[in-house]
Amino acid sequence: MKQINITTPSKNYPVYVGEQAITKLGEVLQSLTPAPKNVLIITDHNVGELYLKDVQAELDQKFSYESFQIKPGDSQKSFENYYACQSFALEKGLDRTSVILALGGGMIGDIAGFVAGTYMRGIRFIQIPTTILAHDSAVGGKTGINHPEGKNMIGVFHQPEAVIYSTDFLSTLPENEIRSGFAEVIKHALIADPSFYEYLRKNITTLNDLKDEHLLNCLTRGIEIKNEVVSQDEREKGIRAFLNFGHTLGHAIEGELRYKDITHGEAVAHGMLFALSLKEETIQLGKNLKRWLHDLGYPTTPKNLSVSSLINRMKKDKKAAGRTINMVLLEQTGHPYIAPYQAIDLEEKLTEFLKEN
Ligand SMILES: NC(=O)c1ccc[n+]([C@@H]2O[C@H](COP(=O)([O-])OP(=O)(O)OC[C@H]3O[C@@H](n4cnc5c(N)ncnc54)[C@H](O)[C@@H]3O)[C@@H](O)[C@H]2O)c1
Ligand SMILES: [Zn+2]
Repeated sequence: MKQINITTPSKNYPVYVGEQAITKLGEVLQSLTPAPKNVLIITDHNVGELYLKDVQAELDQKFSYESFQIKPGDSQKSFENYYACQSFALEKGLDRTSVILALGGGMIGDIAGFVAGTYMRGIRFIQIPTTILAHDSAVGGKTGINHPEGKNMIGVFHQPEAVIYSTDFLSTLPENEIRSGFAEVIKHALIADPSFYEYLRKNITTLNDLKDEHLLNCLTRGIEIKNEVVSQDEREKGIRAFLNFGHTLGHAIEGELRYKDITHGEAVAHGMLFALSLKEETIQLGKNLKRWLHDLGYPTTPKNLSVSSLINRMKKDKKAAGRTINMVLLEQTGHPYIAPYQAIDLEEKLTEFLKEN
């Protein structure tokens, strides 16, 4: 098992990653002061069915606990479920010493973290991620829910006490979810670490390679890179924006497809290819990436996307200002920067890109 220490201006905490990392849970809870009165596990039905008992087994006889399950899917990161979690916590008498365990992928991490961040003005929580994508979401302290007007519109910054990443929990992930999470690993490599990118290119040639030592390396290096960025810019005033590489178009595609038929990371993969196509210096890198993604089974760009609707969505991106869309681009691997584009110019480039991809 590996341990990574996350340092942010507001809090330092450990991430335990590896087979059976869940066995750390009792120890982590015992080390907290004040000792928790009780523990609330929040999970979704899929993950609950598979792993709730493993988590409960770590708590049995040591801690009093309750569990609350919500339906799976990003649409469940909603006010209604937020309210239901808060009501459940109140009914079960959670107090300011209680601890919430977020058992699941990024959806659960975000909503359970937001419940913890706001229940009685904020109680402690522990992330127990169960997807590859969650290497990204479990670290950094962003929590929240969706509003019908937009994803992740309501939330707070709230850092966990610890992240316990039991890689044995990942063995049941469906293929599209493996691809979704691995796209974020590729993103971390591209924005920050050329040698890690080369390592991935060489060693991950099929999704089956994403296990054991390689999986552990992907998660730990991905988390380290995210930590390096976030520790310098916890509240996204500057370089944290680089983590949005591939996301300006990625989010627009997800939105256009109503968050169905494509996973977040698969959409981000298209966004990364588009970003790389924009500059002469990275066109070849983009072509190589495209071939590799194809070999890994990533879907081709969805047909019938409306360029003008995509551009409209990109204008609403949190980084956009008026008609200017700020794109994260690379000078080369490991060297991201922000490039402002006029919407009208980007529309032309996107039309061309969608024709070719
Ligand atoms: N807070 C952040 O910094 C941050 C960063 C990136 C993404 N996010 C958020 O993360 C969410 C996406 O996370 P995700 O991709 O993990 O999605 P998810 O949590 O919805 O999980 C994807 C699917 O996989 C299932 N699942 C989870 N673990 C499983 C396992 N071990 N075995 C079998 N099935 C399993 C889930 O039930 C769900 O159906 C989005 O809401 C996004 O906004 C947050
Ligand atoms: Zn992402």
